[in-house]
Amino acid sequence: TAPQTGLIGLGTMGAALALNIAEKGFPIAVWNRTGSVTQAFHANAGDLAPRITPTATLAELVQAITPPRAIILMVPAGQAVDDQLAALAPLLGPEDLVIDAGNANFRDTNRRDAAGLPFHFMGIGVSGGEEGARHGPSIMAGGPPAAWARMQPLLQAIAARAEDGTPCADHMGPSGAGHFVKAVHNGIEYADMQMIAETYGVMRDGLGMAAPAIAPVFDAWNKGILQSYLIEISGQVAATADPVTGAPLLDMIVDSAGQKGTGRWTAVEAQHLAAPVPVIEAAVMARNVSARRAERAAGEARFGRATPDLNLSVDDLEQALIAGKILCYAQGFAMMTAAAAEFGWALDMPAIARVWRAGCIIRSAMLNDMAAALAEDPARNLILAPFFAAQLDHSLPALRRVVAAGALQGMGLPALSAGLAWFDLMRQARGTANMIQGQRDFFGLHGFTRLDGLDHPHGPWAQA
Ligand code: 6PG
Repeated sequence: TAPQTGLIGLGTMGAALALNIAEKGFPIAVWNRTGSVTQAFHANAGDLAPRITPTATLAELVQAITPPRAIILMVPAGQAVDDQLAALAPLLGPEDLVIDAGNANFRDTNRRDAAGLPFHFMGIGVSGGEEGARHGPSIMAGGPPAAWARMQPLLQAIAARAEDGTPCADHMGPSGAGHFVKAVHNGIEYADMQMIAETYGVMRDGLGMAAPAIAPVFDAWNKGILQSYLIEISGQVAATADPVTGAPLLDMIVDSAGQKGTGRWTAVEAQHLAAPVPVIEAAVMARNVSARRAERAAGEARFGRATPDLNLSVDDLEQALIAGKILCYAQGFAMMTAAAAEFGWALDMPAIARVWRAGCIIRSAMLNDMAAALAEDPARNLILAPFFAAQLDHSLPALRRVVAAGALQGMGLPALSAGLAWFDLMRQARGTANMIQGQRDFFGLHGFTRLDGLDHPHGPWAQA
């Protein structure tokens, strides 16, 4: 049968996604700007080759697909997407559908949608790396409901499945909503990774543990509440020996983290929304600091480095990570609640938690419990859900010990500390912003509201 679906861009992710689509029984036409890539892809597709139609030009791709067509873009985010949409415009009809499945900034997706493309348009966030794309990613779709209805069978067929069998692909909302949720996923990804790195740092520098001794700690955590893909691979990374020297590979890797920008977008958007996501912001900050190696070396030369001698156990670190993770996700979901209100989206919080349960980088056992807690009351902050409140009661003392020890010994734990500071603000009915309001009124007559409700919006300093 002739394909109804096409895919443009046979890089790592595009090729894996095309094979996944073909494997699930959907014939697909593919095109890549460099023709030899298309040919090699088809030649290596094995049993799936008969379901794949390689094409040599964009026009040939369009002709190979039966209308109404659905064409998935897997090209680098940014200008390449705009170029591809412009190239497709004269070739497609109004009932055709183009789906940007790259890591687009949701503002670009909104802009492209609003520009009035001569075909239907969707932006979908796809998470899970190459393995996920090939065997089951998590998919966060944005676009018109009718476009989602059309793509739902294919997207849910290729998606990962949660333990209860539910496909991890869902419609998040119109326009850029899918790419927005994917950005928040990536912000949380940064935060999860940073908090794991911080516990690794305490084990290495505070407890004097070598990488091969750290690996089994992560493996053990992966059997408990922290069970997740990122903890699992952290154990594997720590356990791996360098094929060149035989030393732990982790000790050979430069301590400077790369980033393509999605975590930063989340922090920036959170600021626009006035939504507090300090754990994510700290994680982005820490990546930025990690890139400044020479400055850090100068800092260490002048001020010395952290002193090991921590009165902590790996169990404290596990509990600290549990607490930090709950606080981070509570912030992320609250940010999405703020975004839904700001952008007029009906983001379904339990559905988002469910879509993240499998396939994506942040997949974890805890997301099952988060989906359940959000289903009870999607607007309530996760820290107030009885299940997570009880878990915090249990885990917070360890988070306090870890953060305090880090501060005393001179070991920066930005993400864990930021989570704790936010939590302590969130449980302070009488905060300290009365001082800020007093200062604002003093220097700028900005006014304040009184606790007793009396109508004296300025202090006596106003008369001076
Ligand atoms: C995913 C990931 C992926 C991301 C990379 C790298 O969900 O599969 O989030 O989309 O691009 O992990 O991100 P950084 O280069 O910013 O670390």
